[in-house]
Amino acid sequence: MDSRHQRVKLNDGHFIPALGYGTYKPDEIPKTESLKGTKLAIDAGFHHIDTAYAYQVEEEVGQAIKSKIAEGRVKREDIFLTSKLWCTFLRPNMVQHNLKTSLNKLGLDYIDLYVIHYPVPMKPGEELFPTDEKGKTLFDTVDICATWEAMENCKDEGLAKSIGVSNFNRRQLEMILNKPGLKYKPVCNQVECHPYFNQSKLLDFCKSNDIILVAYGALGTQRDKKWVNQSSPAVLDDPVLCAMAKKYKRTPALIALRYQLQRGVVALAQSFKEKEIKENSQVMVGLWPSELFLIILHMYASLK
Ligand SMILES: NC(=O)c1ccc[n+]([C@@H]2O[C@H](COP(=O)([O-])OP(=O)(O)OC[C@H]3O[C@@H](n4cnc5c(N)ncnc54)[C@H](OP(=O)(O)O)[C@@H]3O)[C@@H](O)[C@H]2O)c1
Repeated sequence: MDSRHQRVKLNDGHFIPALGYGTYKPDEIPKTESLKGTKLAIDAGFHHIDTAYAYQVEEEVGQAIKSKIAEGRVKREDIFLTSKLWCTFLRPNMVQHNLKTSLNKLGLDYIDLYVIHYPVPMKPGEELFPTDEKGKTLFDTVDICATWEAMENCKDEGLAKSIGVSNFNRRQLEMILNKPGLKYKPVCNQVECHPYFNQSKLLDFCKSNDIILVAYGALGTQRDKKWVNQSSPAVLDDPVLCAMAKKYKRTPALIALRYQLQRGVVALAQSFKEKEIKENSQVMVGLWPSELFLIILHMYASLK
């Protein structure tokens, strides 16, 4: 961790800010919230923005970034922007097309980080989630190593400064790492990660291969009814997090984010609320107690 700049060095020499703003939104939230939220995040000091083709808000995210550049608030090179290759574009000849579509929507000529969103090829076409007439997902067969070679070409052509993966398990990462003729290792693996799902084994594996783990759902996810059992406990209500927050005069959200940073994980945080966005940006500010309490928290979470 480069503490002065609060950035982490990637294995290709570029730096990623340790805290990022997440731009995923559920369908019922209007896209204008993404525009507003991204602007608020940049104003609050976020220099790392995470988006994806599949979130369908790249136009709004690009507009927000360009408006902050036009205001003189930031320069393009101050912003670290991630987008993701969607599952219906994993065939090698489609990779660059999906990246160029994202760049067009964003209105930018390069992206800082491009990641394979999921190692799950789906039938190519216009649909994000292609299904048959019975509603069953239509998958595709693609050699993920060939997809990775197309990702490497995107880096060579300067369309993406860094390339990585998301939602890969250890075996899937090993397929890439052991690929004959590998030109670039993935710089990161972006996965769900929070105190109830701490990914400690995957984190150790990533660290031993100089791959940064990027945590999404670091605040416990948006608890979308489609994916999350609403009766499961909410991370930010956890009694240990709440007690720590009280003891150290922070908030449960800040403890959950700081926990990730102190274990060498880059954390994403999503919110459309100005108060929360400003609060989350404070994770770098002020003196924090030593790592000990975070280790305790880590142990506690592993026992659950
Ligand atoms: N690679 C992937 O497959 C993948 C998957 C999912 C997400 N992601 C990325 O990761 C980002 C973050 O993950 P996420 O969207 O699941 O959500 P998250 O960061 O875990 O946040 C969850 C919710 O916490 C609440 N919150 C935020 N700050 C708070 C604060 N200071 N105090 C109290 N509550 C607070 C917000 O809800 P309220 O506004 O209702 O309070 C927010 O929606 C996404 O936006 C996306 O960019 C990637």
